[in-house]
Order: sequence, then structure tokens, then C-alpha cells
Amino acid sequence: MKKINIAIDGPAAAGKSTIAKKVAAALDMVYVDTGAMYRAITLAYLKSDDKDFERLLQDIDIRLVADNGQRVLLSGEDITERIRENDITENVSYVASQGAVRSFLVELQQQMTRDKGVVMDGRDIGTTVIPDAELKIYMVASVEERANRRQLDNEARGIESTVEQLKEDIAHRDHLDMTREISPLTQAGDAIEIDTTGRSIEDVTAIILKLASDKLE
Ligand code: DC
Repeated sequence: MKKINIAIDGPAAAGKSTIAKKVAAALDMVYVDTGAMYRAITLAYLKSDDKDFERLLQDIDIRLVADNGQRVLLSGEDITERIRENDITENVSYVASQGAVRSFLVELQQQMTRDKGVVMDGRDIGTTVIPDAELKIYMVASVEERANRRQLDNEARGIESTVEQLKEDIAHRDHLDMTREISPLTQAGDAIEIDTTGRSIEDVTAIILKLASDKLE
């Protein structure tokens, strides 16, 4: 059977992870959430006394384990839930703007996609990590809708927040991610834009599955 890679990019909380996970499960593909990798390095950075990124990356041990989605291990410790907390979210754009961090992770991500069969979500997947992906999606949604979704996520996870605060955080993070010097968030020329505002998870998943089935023929 033909194997393809699917790149899903877009701003924070546009629905990428939820939908990428469902698409991967439906097509029996591997799901990779690259935001979680930047978050894992952010946790290592916050824990480390040495703030030199090159040295930090020399000793880092990040592993992704497929488990009805993806679990993240840092030096063997399961940090899947920990990296969703506010201190990580507040610092991740800074860490993700570092050239050393980006080249380290892009290399790792490219290794993962070499044999195809991967649904990868992030900010620079269609532009930098897999520019030759067979299918590229650029997912967007209004700031209001994204803040409301994140609030529901946070409630489920027991993380405190308000919708107003989340709106500000999301707009701020969009700005940092879109204006950073190295591979800023932009839509690849050949990516298909999907606005998920007012659309259900099932609808968006179905749209992508249809696009993928055309590529798999
Ligand atoms: O998708 P997320 O919110 O978990 O991503 C966390 C941060 O990581 C996001 O603010 C930008 C950065 N990121 C990135 O720069 N490149 C990626 N491929 C994925 C995430």
C-alpha cells in the first residue's frame, strides 16, 4: 500500500493535535506532535541551572511513545501532562526561537518521517520539516474559539485559567511564532487551509481523510 506523510500546521489551539491524532488512527499512521518536543526541551531548560542551549541539547534524552496518541519521556520520566502546565506554555516560544533547538528537533523529526506513514503537527512541518509531504494542511480558527477550546481542555486537566487570559496568551504566542527569525509560522504555498471555527472535530477529520484518500490512490 502507498505510504504518505501528512503535515498539519497552524497557530496555537487551532485543533491540530486532536484532529491529527484521529487522522493517524483512522489511517493506521504514526502521530507526532512536534509542539510536545519543544515543550519537553522547555521543561529541561527550566530545570537546568546551565542555560546554554548547545550544552543542554548534548545531554537531552527525549522519547516519544505511541499510546492512543503520544506520550513524552524526558530522561525516562513521563512528562506528558507536566508539559501542558502554564510555566511551560509561557516559555516555549522563547525556547522554540533558538536556532540550536530548532536544528536539533528538525533533524530528529526528519528522521521520523523518512519512511513515511506519519501525521505530524506543528508550525513548520510543511515549510521546513517535510517540504515534500504528500498532503499539507494549514489549520486556523478564530482567537475566541481557540481560547474557548483551550479553556475546556484546561478544565479537564485541572489547570486554572480564564477565557480572557487565554485569548491574550494565544494572540501573544501567535505573534511570537509568526515573527520569529528562524522558520516562523507561515502557510506553505501548497498547503490547504481549513478554518475549523464552528466546525466539529468529526467534520474536519472527515475533510482531511477525504484529501488523504485522494493521495493514497
Ligand atoms: O502546539 P503547541 O502549543 O504545543 O506548541 C508549543 C510551541 O512550540 C509553540 O508556541 C511554537 C513551538 N513550535 C514550533 O516552533 N514549531 C513546531 N513545529 C511546533 C511547535
